[in-house]
Amino acid sequence: MPSVSGFYIPPVSLFGEGAIEEAAKQIRQADFKNVLIVTDPGIAKIGLSGTVSKTLEQLGLNVAVYDQTQPNPNEKNVSDGLKVLREHNSDVVVSIGGGSAHDNAKAIALVATNGGSIEDYEGVNKSKKNGLPLYAINTTAGTASEMTRFTIITNEAKRTKMAIIDNHVTPSVAINDPSTMYGLPPSLTAATGLDALTHCIEAYVSTASNPITDACALKGIDLIEESLEKAFLNGSDKKARTDMCYAEYLGGMAFNNASLGYVHALAHQLGGFYHLPHGVCNAVLLPHVQYFNKADEATERRLAEIAIHLGCKAHTADATIEKLLDMCKALKIPRNLEELGVKKADFEALAEHAMKDACHATNPIPFEKHEVVAILQRAFDY
Ligand SMILES: NC(=O)c1ccc[n+]([C@@H]2O[C@H](COP(=O)([O-])OP(=O)(O)OC[C@H]3O[C@@H](n4cnc5c(N)ncnc54)[C@H](O)[C@@H]3O)[C@@H](O)[C@H]2O)c1
Ligand SMILES: [Fe+2]
Repeated sequence: MPSVSGFYIPPVSLFGEGAIEEAAKQIRQADFKNVLIVTDPGIAKIGLSGTVSKTLEQLGLNVAVYDQTQPNPNEKNVSDGLKVLREHNSDVVVSIGGGSAHDNAKAIALVATNGGSIEDYEGVNKSKKNGLPLYAINTTAGTASEMTRFTIITNEAKRTKMAIIDNHVTPSVAINDPSTMYGLPPSLTAATGLDALTHCIEAYVSTASNPITDACALKGIDLIEESLEKAFLNGSDKKARTDMCYAEYLGGMAFNNASLGYVHALAHQLGGFYHLPHGVCNAVLLPHVQYFNKADEATERRLAEIAIHLGCKAHTADATIEKLLDMCKALKIPRNLEELGVKKADFEALAEHAMKDACHATNPIPFEKHEVVAILQRAFDY
């Protein structure tokens, strides 16, 4: 464990209905002139980026839009967005969407001030300067990318995802307005909610956890246990959606500071290899990675504590693992890696790449390659 631990979150975070209008006012007050909105085709289609654009224009700001971010954004999304930013001389970036839009915007804002290309910043704190100011409007609950110092960009040539972990990509303002999520379809609610649960659990068993990240992780688990299924069954349940905004933000505070583990290290490879949705990959892997993690005694105790927060009758690591499998079933997540279309022939390569992903470093057990392959095998056969 490092002797000094920092705690990083955005300087300002806004929650609740009306948070977007408040953020727009703050952008105006900060005297920015030219806004670049970074979003994706789905958010453009439901009209949300158009509404935000209008609000900003009514306040006297010039707005340009890049709305072609793809799920699991790649280097081309970053360079195309950067081109729009430079053409319009943008001095502030507003991201609207889930993790993909925020990650793309963070990468654009970072390269805008530091130069080069996004690959140059793979790893930990590789940049010299702050990115452009970024206001991140979150629409999934979720990745917590609207508040983290992580940006995940797909490297198409290597079929992997680059983790850029850099204080300079932390958004200036994180915005969570639950009304943007009332229309989030059940399948996306489930996948993104289980991503948030994975953040809480991986941070809680991480080798870099501390009392602050523990408190965030456990409160996040409480709220997810209380509200994820409700939001899945009734998307316009305001209380459940609001709880999920807080839960995903708490998960973000936990993993932004305690980091993650092998669930994310492997999920990043499944995303890079097969373009699978991040939350679904985590949901399928989470119980199986914890099955291997419980071989560590301290982790077994931590997983047993989680059982209490997940409302399990037995307070054991096995009860937690069973509960995770039940939650996936209730939320209609595919059963195993075979159903996701993962190929056994790729296991060796997936394991090798996962062992190089920055997220594996804080997993409670530093697995060897044959163990990582065994995790994949278990998640495939289940
Ligand atoms: N930077 C981080 O800290 C971090 C952490 C975890 C994951 N990630 C990354 O985030 C990405 C996944 O993000 P995600 O799971 O939020 O999904 P996403 O951003 O890829 O969005 C998935 C789909 O949902 C649609 N959508 C989003 N909000 C909606 C809404 N309110 N209503 C209707 N449709 C909506 C989008 O248009 C898109 O088609 C992955 O690339 C993953 O690697 C980043
Ligand atoms: Fe995640």
